[in-house]
Amino acid sequence: MTVVPRFIEARRSIRAFRADAVDRAVLDRVVEAACLAPAPHHSRPWRWVVVDTPGAKTALADGMGAQWRRDLASDGVSAARIDELVDASHTKIEGAPALVLGCLTWDGLDRYPDATRQRAEWGMALLSLGAAVENLMLAAADAGLATCWVAAPIFCPEAARDALALEAEWLPHALVLVGHPDPGYTGRQRPPIPLDQLREFR
Ligand SMILES: Cc1cc2nc3c(=O)[nH]c(=O)nc-3n(C[C@H](O)[C@H](O)[C@H](O)COP(=O)(O)O)c2cc1C
Repeated sequence: MTVVPRFIEARRSIRAFRADAVDRAVLDRVVEAACLAPAPHHSRPWRWVVVDTPGAKTALADGMGAQWRRDLASDGVSAARIDELVDASHTKIEGAPALVLGCLTWDGLDRYPDATRQRAEWGMALLSLGAAVENLMLAAADAGLATCWVAAPIFCPEAARDALALEAEWLPHALVLVGHPDPGYTGRQRPPIPLDQLREFR
């Protein structure tokens, strides 16, 4: 019987890191791995921002946090709960030795006159970004690094972009925490894969 390749199984979301920095040359290699992802019609619709300075981490956490506060307040969440959630998000973002922010851009994508195909084109770019992020996390795991994908920027791409003064066309959609794993961290046990519920043959 064939088995899932070990290097795929070995990647886990790890949310606690040692304090030491990650070598920028290693970060470059994992971003390079991301850039080997398949992308629609030979485009490269992603851009990457490596955030490993305290000022930039704080700026990003502040920018996204401000937007999240507004969203939670309009959902009717209590002020105390908002503080709790946004503080935890700050701790997560500022506590990671490095962050890799995956952005999407229209550069290289096709433009359509109608909203349906335009949305499909952007959807393809998003799928490609997902493949790229998986490449990045697999390469990081292979280099002995821990990663965790954080959803936040997809809810506030403009706020994340402006927090880091990125070009207007770079729209952050994925955030990956990167660092050396805290040896004391134990993640959730991975549940078995109920293949019979998740796939069908025709
Ligand atoms: C699009 C996406 C967004 C995610 N956002 C978060 C997040 O905001 N915070 C977090 O701790 N984990 C986040 N994760 C990680 C998932 O929780 C994790 O992949 C899942 O629990 C499976 O665990 P594993 O990655 O260890 O296999 C995200 C994963 C994906 C694919």
